[in-house]
This record gives sequence, structure tokens and C-alpha cells, in this order.
Amino acid sequence: MAAVAEAKTCRHISVRPINPAIGAEITSVDLSRELDAATAAEIMDAILDHLVVFFPGQDITPDRQAAFARHFGDVPVVPDSMFRVHADNPCVSVLENDAERPPTVNNWHSDYSFAAKPDFLSILHARSIPDVGGDTIWVNMYAAYEALTDPMKAHLEGRVATHDFMKLYERPFKRHLWEGERFQYMEAARLEHPPVRHPAVRTIPETGRRALYINESFTRNIEGLDERESASLLDYLFEHIRTPEFQIRYRWEPGTLVVWDNRVTVHYAVADYHPRHRLMHRVTVLNHEVPQA
Ligand SMILES: [Fe+2]
Repeated sequence: MAAVAEAKTCRHISVRPINPAIGAEITSVDLSRELDAATAAEIMDAILDHLVVFFPGQDITPDRQAAFARHFGDVPVVPDSMFRVHADNPCVSVLENDAERPPTVNNWHSDYSFAAKPDFLSILHARSIPDVGGDTIWVNMYAAYEALTDPMKAHLEGRVATHDFMKLYERPFKRHLWEGERFQYMEAARLEHPPVRHPAVRTIPETGRRALYINESFTRNIEGLDERESASLLDYLFEHIRTPEFQIRYRWEPGTLVVWDNRVTVHYAVADYHPRHRLMHRVTVLNHEVPQA
């Protein structure tokens, strides 16, 4: 397996890899202040190298989080649907769980892979973290692809997968999202997101490297295969990406801000902290590159 982590000299930030496959901590930068272009460029390089980067101890407002995100691409206004929208900034989603709102994002996914134009980066800021639990796990999908045998890579070559919003949101443990006044928002999201086609293996322009682009939550099937062939292959790949050597599991602290590249990772929010309180603010970044199927 090829490792992505290596020490690099940066002039504006300090980057410390957390493990060889994925994840680095970035210090020596204060995100409450406007970044200069050179610092933003070094952060983007660190994201490309390490796929998920962590900025501990950041005291920032929702507006600053959105301003930080704009250095890396287009920042969309978020619809009120799966998550509530922050009252101070329409680009910020509020992810909040407590006794009355149990966590239900313990499923492997890449953010918005069900969309024709999926999220490029996701940026989470930890506002309140339980005393124990509530970790998040990310998987390096370059590493997952590179660890496949050549015959399996050849089998996947040129394959197109269907991603479907409803594969996840029709499941019983998501039923609460459709109840009461929330139904209208979820129904709007369903109508906005019919099934889409994405390549099962993507080449990332900035790195030239290939990554698996499937996830258990939204990938329904692989086109051109018999239904059982598709299901068996996807089951194998979903199991494959659970390999611990491809992963990082991160213990959050209040104030930590995390940025990850959805093109080359999947993630899983460990739902082990109910009924404790956990509050995150999320901003997403779109880029201009749309995966072609
Ligand atoms: Fe997510």
C-alpha cells in the first residue's frame, strides 16, 4: 500500500502526519483571521497529501468558517433538509445530537455522492464534544484502490456506479428525518436528487492518482453487471474499505476544525455517545470539476 504521508517543509503552517495512510494535524495558523493566499495554498497542498487535516483549538464563528471555506472553491447555501441551517449563516449546517436526537450518521459515506455535483471538501467545526465517544473515522480511497489486485482493477476499469440518495434515507433508522414538519424538506431533497452516475474509479486531476469512488450508503449498483454480480462486487469493496490500515479514527476536542476531500475518502461518525450532547457546524465546498460517467 502506498502511503501518502511524508514530512514537507511549509513556510506558513506546520503539518504533522498522524499516521502513514491518512490524516495530519495543522498548527501555527489562526483561522479566526483572514488567510493570505500563500497559507491557503499550503493548506490545500496538505489536504491533497493527507486527505483529512485537523486544526486543533480554533475559536471561530460560523461566518469565519464560511470565509475560510471560500479559499478552496464555491461555498453553497445549504438547504434545510437532513441537517438544520444555522441562523447566522445560510452556508452552515448544524449537526446536533443529544438525548432527544440520537446520532444516526454511523454509516460509511462520501458527502453528497448522490448529487450530480458532489461535495468537494467538507469542513466541520467541533462546538461541543461528549466527554467520551463521538469519534469520526475516515478511509483513504487511494489506498483502498491501490491495494486491489491488478485483475480486480481491470474488472473495475471504466465501470460506472449508480448513487442514490434514497438508498440511505429510505432506511428505517432514518425514518425520524421524515416525520412532522421535516417531511417537506426531505421530500424536496428526494425530488432534487434522482439517482446519478459516477465512475467507480476516479483519477484526481491534481495528483494524477486513482481512487475508488463507491460508498455503502449511496452506491446502489455497478452498471453492466447482473444484479447479483453487482451486489457481490459492491459487498466485497465495502468490506475491503474497512481495512484498518486505510483508516484514521480521530478523537475530537472542542474547537477542532477538520477539512476532508470527499473525492478520495469515505467517513463514518461513530454513534456511541447517546444521550450525550455533540454539536458540529458544517460547511461544504464545491469545485468546478464534476466527475464524468
Ligand atoms: Fe458526512
